[in-house]
Amino acid sequence: MTASSLFETSILGPMTLKNRLWRSATWENMADDAGHMTPELLEIYENLARGGVGTIITGYAYIRKEEQANPGMMGIYDDSFISEYKTFTDRMHELGANIILQGCYGGSQTNFKPESRLIWGPSAVEHPIFKVTPTSMNQEDIAALIDSYAQAGRRAKAAGFDGFQIHGAHGYLLSQFLTPYFNRRSDEYGGSIENRARIIYEVLEAVRKEVGPEYPVLIKMHSTDEWGDQGLTPEESVFVAKGLETRGITAIELSGGHLSKDPSTLPIKPKIINERKQSYFRGPAAMIAAAVEVPVILVGGNRSVAVMEEILGSTPIQYFSFARTLLSEPDLPNKWKQGFRDRPRCVSCNQCWGEDKNICILDRKKEA
Ligand SMILES: Cc1cc2nc3c(=O)[nH]c(=O)nc-3n(C[C@H](O)[C@H](O)[C@H](O)COP(=O)(O)O)c2cc1C
Ligand code: SF4
Repeated sequence: MTASSLFETSILGPMTLKNRLWRSATWENMADDAGHMTPELLEIYENLARGGVGTIITGYAYIRKEEQANPGMMGIYDDSFISEYKTFTDRMHELGANIILQGCYGGSQTNFKPESRLIWGPSAVEHPIFKVTPTSMNQEDIAALIDSYAQAGRRAKAAGFDGFQIHGAHGYLLSQFLTPYFNRRSDEYGGSIENRARIIYEVLEAVRKEVGPEYPVLIKMHSTDEWGDQGLTPEESVFVAKGLETRGITAIELSGGHLSKDPSTLPIKPKIINERKQSYFRGPAAMIAAAVEVPVILVGGNRSVAVMEEILGSTPIQYFSFARTLLSEPDLPNKWKQGFRDRPRCVSCNQCWGEDKNICILDRKKEA
């Protein structure tokens, strides 16, 4: 299927999407120490909703209390979040946006108190950048992780989120199972792609059991992990996407890359200086989109209406999501709708991370 306009309405399961633009999950570093909402964090979301994006995915929320990958993350690890998030989702709906919760188990990709907590991984392989060596998960740990995802999905539905997204990308735990560099297992969760994908399938099935067949359950996964011969091949990504489709995924957001010293392999690529560098996972993402019926959302370097409309018209990719551009300019969707076609404010400098909160460096300078 191809679609003609970024601003047309579409239907995704029970959701109506007022346009094809999504806010991709963006950790704001503004929740309180226990992962609860703060007025500052709510304001970020209100500005996004007012800015015209159709569907917002929250920053990654930690699904197990002892496992918080970064400070200021939102939590979804127990039922205490349900009533507070109900107020939040009501507000998003009042402002005309859909809101989806992203749930995540971080793993070894962390420098947030790694010495003081249990950190699981597929195998006890030191993270090449963070130098954290996780505890290799046994069967019991795997069952506990799957249940944590299922409970997080249940809570998201009870709190009025329009859907739940499983974070299966960017080197966090679930994506580590897919990447042979991290997954050295010889049991049924390691080796062949059928085995490496098993835990993700089991997470999806467990979430589905909690939320029922209609509720939107999405995943963010790699179109390519850019790990070369120690990574996931494009054919394997197609295999995983098809397996997720068979098991009832609602939509797949395709990202890619991994954290390394080489900026060209990052999921969040810097210096998007021309149209050629935009929408940088479009090639492998289009290949996956062609192999599945479920909608695909493309993330990474989406910057201009012309490039996105060209992708929309020439590939089966149906939706586009944004992190940095909306961090810098939450009202960009409204501006695009009104005909704005200049460069977005974000210059892809990758300076969005602050010690106290993640905001655009251009706003940080204004505050100083
Ligand atoms: C400050 C910041 C926080 C991010 N937090 C998350 C997150 O919580 N979950 C996630 O899946 N991706 C996260 N990402 C990655 C983005 O969702 C997105 O995949 C990436 O930035 C590329 O898209 P962009 O070019 O639109 O920024 C984050 C990116 C930035 C810049
Ligand atoms: S800090 Fe840089 S990359 Fe981040 S939103 Fe601002 S301009 Fe974009």
